[in-house]
Amino acid sequence: MIKKLAVLTSGGDAPGMNAAIRAVVRSALAANLEVFGVEDGYKGLWEKRINPLIHRDVSDIIIKGGTILGTARLPEFKEAAVVKQAAENLKALNIEALVAIGGDGTYRGAAELANYGIACIALPASIDNDVNGSDYCIGFDTALNTIIEAIDKLRDTSTSHHRCSIVEVMGNHCGDLALFAGLSSGAEIVITPESAYDEKEVLERLRYYDQTKKKRHAIVVIAEKLVNVEDLALKITENTTFSGRSTVLGHIQRGGSPSGFDRVLATRMGDYAVTLLKEDKSSVGIGILNNQLVNQDINAMLSLVKPDRQGIYDLQKRLV
Ligand code: F6P
Repeated sequence: MIKKLAVLTSGGDAPGMNAAIRAVVRSALAANLEVFGVEDGYKGLWEKRINPLIHRDVSDIIIKGGTILGTARLPEFKEAAVVKQAAENLKALNIEALVAIGGDGTYRGAAELANYGIACIALPASIDNDVNGSDYCIGFDTALNTIIEAIDKLRDTSTSHHRCSIVEVMGNHCGDLALFAGLSSGAEIVITPESAYDEKEVLERLRYYDQTKKKRHAIVVIAEKLVNVEDLALKITENTTFSGRSTVLGHIQRGGSPSGFDRVLATRMGDYAVTLLKEDKSSVGIGILNNQLVNQDINAMLSLVKPDRQGIYDLQKRLV
């Protein structure tokens, strides 16, 4: 069985990463394993910024957003020389295993590193909810609640002014934040990378909601990188009786104290990662399916397709 392990957070930060770090550290120490924290994700691993962690280093962090270890994006972590150097840095400290906390890019990095003899466990944390093979990623629920709070406020002012609010949310190539935010805030229209976008249809629907359904406001939730939301707001003002206004929520969605759901998820997954290492597992990604913790080969997880959300899209539309 391994004796020393390291933990890192990588990619965009997500609320609940700290709760996961805490669980990894405390579960490892409880199993008499030595545990190290890597600064700034794979970048710190490459640069050998690896420090021992003790029980009190993770005190008070379960409630904190962000990540105490720091995080970074390191596109170079695909290059063999970089990955090899990272593995050597761990081996020089006799660290045999790594828990990597992050989204799909972090999973890819962990799979690469496992090829160099480091036992790697990847743990899903991303507000985008973009790790296939897991119903939820740590941070998604908190970000979703942040968006809901913002949309609820926009609804007040939109109703008062007979306006259409276009709310741009994060998600990169995954529409889950937009879809679930739209469903849970009673939005009129949801536009995501997975749904079709037709400007003419959006304008027609808004005219219908106003003239036929007599709505005093309309909310359009749109995933980032699809449309220029300011231009769309202008078109709505020019082509419907709503006045259009756009709001880009941006990085606010990534911060804040994690929700209860994310704290529980992170704690369960962090502990599970240590359990898997004690069983000598490697190159394994963690997920949660139907409230059961599951693990499978990281590369197999990365080749899974996105879950079919058509039923949820239909439901959102039906209830407008
Ligand atoms: O992956 C999380 C995420 O917040 C995406 O939703 C977004 O596209 C991206 O990160 C933004 O990245 P950065 O913080 O590097 O601008």
